[in-house]
Amino acid sequence: MSVENIVGLLGWPTSHSISPIMQNQALKTAGLTNWLYVPMPVRPEPKERIKEAVWGLRALGFKGANVTVPYKEAVVPYLDRLSDEAAQIGAVNTIVVDEHDHLVGHNTDGIGFINDLADHGFLVANKSILILGAGGSARALAYTVLAQKCKHLLILNRTENKASDIAHSLKQKFPESVVEAGPLAKEYLQKNKADLVINTTSLGLPSKPEESPWDSGVAFAQSQVVYDLIYNPAITPFLKQAERSKATTLNGLGMLVHQGAKSFEIWTGLKAPLSVMKSAVFQAVKD
Ligand code: ATR
Repeated sequence: MSVENIVGLLGWPTSHSISPIMQNQALKTAGLTNWLYVPMPVRPEPKERIKEAVWGLRALGFKGANVTVPYKEAVVPYLDRLSDEAAQIGAVNTIVVDEHDHLVGHNTDGIGFINDLADHGFLVANKSILILGAGGSARALAYTVLAQKCKHLLILNRTENKASDIAHSLKQKFPESVVEAGPLAKEYLQKNKADLVINTTSLGLPSKPEESPWDSGVAFAQSQVVYDLIYNPAITPFLKQAERSKATTLNGLGMLVHQGAKSFEIWTGLKAPLSVMKSAVFQAVKD
């Protein structure tokens, strides 16, 4: 059967992404044999390339795309409309070309995170949450945990004013929760009593494999859930520290599956085959 519906991944680079494996397996399982998910690496220079790529989705009759690093914020000006969530977060990880040929931006990162936590029996409502880092991922998670009615949110970042900016804008939108910010400093980590601690910084990625945002002199409580958005490597130095304290640890693989599942549902209108997608990513990281 010929391919009639194409979706893909806009990013730079895209060669290490396991989304193509996961999404093509999902499309096949759902019987969408005339659909295909392709990597679409877009060079960062010259700057207008990303605009051309986004508008090219419509020109070429694509159904949509995922967006990854470094373009989640950069694509926003070239879209016709944003979902409420994407507008609040200021970043897009999923684009759909709708029936009127409009480019609509969504953000499924936050809900992907919440659904993965739910898979592990953790509900955010009324909990106290600590986010390390204040980049695009931190903003998406901060918005989502507040939308899910967490009781208290503290954002700590090396560059403190970026954490304060996020806290300030979200405080007004979610007056029922306590939202605070501070520097990524030992005394703040020592005071931490959060139910859930999340690393959204780049420390622990293959480019910084030995580093952790957590001070090695500070223990976690056994009752805490410690989440690293990084999934490659599967166990970062941050998660090793949490394991030593016997805290519950989770990496970003489950979130990858759940954000992808939501994107799949937005493009196809069908329920995503979650278990197939999970097996595909677990197999891909083992290979
Ligand atoms: P993403 O979109 O994945 O969130 P990002 O916007 O580049 O990525 O954010 C990276 C985060 O990692 C930031 O919070 C950054 O801190 P700064 O705002 O101070 O730059 C954090 N980060 C990167 N390198 C770091 C380091 N060596 N120590 C502490 N935090 C670091």
